[in-house]
Amino acid sequence: MSSTEITRVRAWEALDSRGRPTVACRIDLDGGAHAVARVPSGASTGSHEVAELRDGGTRYEGAGVRNAVAAVIDHVGPAVIGLDAESTAQVDRAIAAVEQEREPGTVGANATLAVSLAAVIAAANAQDAPLARMLHPVGPLQLPMPMVNIVSGGAHAAGALDIQDVLVIPEGASTFAEAIEWVAMVRAAATRIALDRGFAEAALVADEGGLGLRLGSNVAALELVAEAVETSGLDLGTDVTIAIDAAATEFYADGAYTLARDGRILDAERLLAMYSDWVDRFPIRSIEDPLAEDDWDGWALATRELGGRIDLVGDDLFVTQADRLKRGVAEHSATAILVKVNQNGLVSRAGDVLRTARDAGFRTIVSARSGETEDSWVADLATGWAAGQLKVGSTHRSERTAKWNRVLELEATEESTLAHPWPRRSKEESA
Ligand code: PGA
Ligand code: ZN
Repeated sequence: MSSTEITRVRAWEALDSRGRPTVACRIDLDGGAHAVARVPSGASTGSHEVAELRDGGTRYEGAGVRNAVAAVIDHVGPAVIGLDAESTAQVDRAIAAVEQEREPGTVGANATLAVSLAAVIAAANAQDAPLARMLHPVGPLQLPMPMVNIVSGGAHAAGALDIQDVLVIPEGASTFAEAIEWVAMVRAAATRIALDRGFAEAALVADEGGLGLRLGSNVAALELVAEAVETSGLDLGTDVTIAIDAAATEFYADGAYTLARDGRILDAERLLAMYSDWVDRFPIRSIEDPLAEDDWDGWALATRELGGRIDLVGDDLFVTQADRLKRGVAEHSATAILVKVNQNGLVSRAGDVLRTARDAGFRTIVSARSGETEDSWVADLATGWAAGQLKVGSTHRSERTAKWNRVLELEATEESTLAHPWPRRSKEESA
């Protein structure tokens, strides 16, 4: 009998950072190690994600997860008892078998992921090793380059802007600690500038810890972030670049993209022309979900027109699903993928999607959700999988800093290097 054999699985309802319930799971191993994992939840969810199970009814305004908790206790948990937690693939296969045997819609991704995560973290705990180290046993860990939210809109800030995030990438930093110091400075400068201009809401924070500002236009968010970088004494374009998550599915309907803040309704071609203008004016590294989740033609056009200049990142497009990624690779729909394990429901299956994307030449980003918990395993996954980039929101709110702090801990305690996913530019080149 191995000391990493799963002996007990428990589950209960816990709270996420938006005050909504989520599934928590504890797994105990016979050698005495254990782990608790809590599942995150999105707001701008893709319609092709593996669905989380919500109870409906009146409890928690319908968002209760008692049925998902029961699915863990009655079905998913019993299926992994007696398995070796170190054999992640075997544990996940057993969970997937439950998913297939049960009636569709009765075992949510929140139930499967809670067990999958708790098992892999318990295995790392049994080794007394960070999960990142267990996933990457030999050689220096590759810490992810952070992409950090400064201004929030869309579903994360009550629609203050049409685009969902304007982020910064401290790609000129040499260490993760330096990267975090720079972005914290930028976040503080952005607050100061916004308050000076009379945006009282700059004292508040949006769902991911960014500023939810009612700016006059979408491009004003880019201007503010660019100014915040420059007033921080950092070089825009070499020290720090900009990323956008448009989350365009949220402002798309019936073939049209409605930018309410700009008073414009655009087709895909005109929306791409707008992005192209932004790319001319600002040092933008990537645009995530520039187009809606099923606008495959628009995505192919985007990659033809902009793919040589920036990364086009599929989040709602791919939803961490192998079949959608396969189509995207075949049709040249994007150049990068966002990986969120709860879109997939199993840790190893999400890792497989990430590796498939990397093998196809895509850049990869591991991401948290807008509804998060104090857990920091996403930082270990990004590091252990050598994803290259990590996106977990801003430098405010503890459910966000838990992840950055975890990478800082890995940098301070493990042999590591910081990923630089793009060739580093000199100041002369960017001028
Ligand atoms: P979500 O947002 O967690 O609300 O989906 C994050 C993102 O779109 O990247
Ligand atoms: Zn997104």
